[in-house]
Amino acid sequence: MTVSNEITNSLKELENEFSVPKETLLKIIDYFVEELNRGLVDGSDPLGIPMNLQWVMEYPTGNETGDYLALDFGGTNLRVVMVHLLGNGKLETDQGFYKLPSNMRTTNDRNELFDFFAECLEKFLIDKHPSGIPENQVFPLGFTFSYPASQKRIDSGVLQRWTKGFDIPGVEGEDVVPLLMEKIIKRNLPIKVVALINDTCGALVASRYVNPKTEMGCIFGTGVNGSYYEIVSNITKFKGLIPNDIPENSLMLINCEYGSFDNAHKVIPRTKYDLIIDETSPRPGQQTFEKATAGFYLGDLLRLTLLDYYKKGIIFQNISNETVKILETEHCIDASFPSFLESDESDDLKTCKKLFNDVFKIENASFEDCYFARKASEFIGTRAARLSTCGISAAAKKRNYESFDVAADGSLYLKYTKFAERAADALAETFGWPADMPYEKHPIKIVKSLDGSGVGAAVIAALAHNRQSKGLS
Ligand code: GLC
Repeated sequence: MTVSNEITNSLKELENEFSVPKETLLKIIDYFVEELNRGLVDGSDPLGIPMNLQWVMEYPTGNETGDYLALDFGGTNLRVVMVHLLGNGKLETDQGFYKLPSNMRTTNDRNELFDFFAECLEKFLIDKHPSGIPENQVFPLGFTFSYPASQKRIDSGVLQRWTKGFDIPGVEGEDVVPLLMEKIIKRNLPIKVVALINDTCGALVASRYVNPKTEMGCIFGTGVNGSYYEIVSNITKFKGLIPNDIPENSLMLINCEYGSFDNAHKVIPRTKYDLIIDETSPRPGQQTFEKATAGFYLGDLLRLTLLDYYKKGIIFQNISNETVKILETEHCIDASFPSFLESDESDDLKTCKKLFNDVFKIENASFEDCYFARKASEFIGTRAARLSTCGISAAAKKRNYESFDVAADGSLYLKYTKFAERAADALAETFGWPADMPYEKHPIKIVKSLDGSGVGAAVIAALAHNRQSKGLS
């Protein structure tokens, strides 16, 4: 089927806005390396990348053992995991999933959030111990708290700022571990938080437990971020905080928090839709890289694009007022919507048509409407995947890593149509690997991580426990 010149021209215009050609990616990567470096030496720039310490100073060996609880609070749901580390890279897990109430993202009462965590932990323990929670045992807990936190120790963390649309007063600037412990104690649960963990660090450590080629952990999901091991002597902004008994040449796991890359708006080309997303978010001016690449924003980028071209008279003419209202509703669709549109390869785009009917109450979306929306999704999804790789390339350049695995997790990487392929292609393009090099031969491979927020939290808790028992910081 053909489409009108008007649609073709509008799509050309849109493609230009969203495209990030190789030259742009290379420029972004160079500046990314600069920002990673600066983040390690200068903590004074509020627009810089935080480069937070995770206080993991060794690679796991795969021989860590013990039973650990993990509480995974990533942004969309809550999970409790019991991890039995058996050594030899072997482990067993048992988990419970809990739906985060929809009002929780922006509740006015922080107690609701932390009490909900404790309630889920209690439910899990009761469920696993129907004849009574053991009284003579304290369960060590790794708390996977996937937000930027300043950590002076591994078992504490002050929230720097909420990300991913969260906006709960009274938590920024506070140590979240005592906030959780208070609720755990109130419920009389035999649990002690021994480590606060970022999900990217969990992904790296969990995968490294079984795969020694792993050098980075990345999340491509509701948010976007990465972690890697840095040499302590390079981390000068934390002099004084890193104790003297730690040799300069030892390693320190760094949670980059590079969702905040380019907050000064130097290199990422931003469309007018990106500007609206930023202005209408709870934290304008923050998380620039994340707002262009992460799952929490991709649905809204598409919604704003469709709304704009509706207003220009190009698509969705004669839609009802009800549909216009839906189109005007922030976050009415998530990233699965553009992903589903993109996955429709039928000649008449019947999945797209059905989706517009189901979600936007458009009874008869035309072929052109569907074609436009599908292409727009492709531009948005492709840009996200290509930009996402810049963090990996920058860390690789910074550490002179030439061949390694990136342990990745998150809904975009796991589920978004063609995300993983596009990311692999972008890496090949920017590193100049031959276009016909098979994926298995790529020197830098993004591979599915082992469950970082569960297993990773447990391994990190075990490493922390080992260090503490040796009397180390
Ligand atoms: C956001 C958080 C970060 C997390 C990422 C992925 O960027 O600030 O801590 O790693 O989302 O969940």
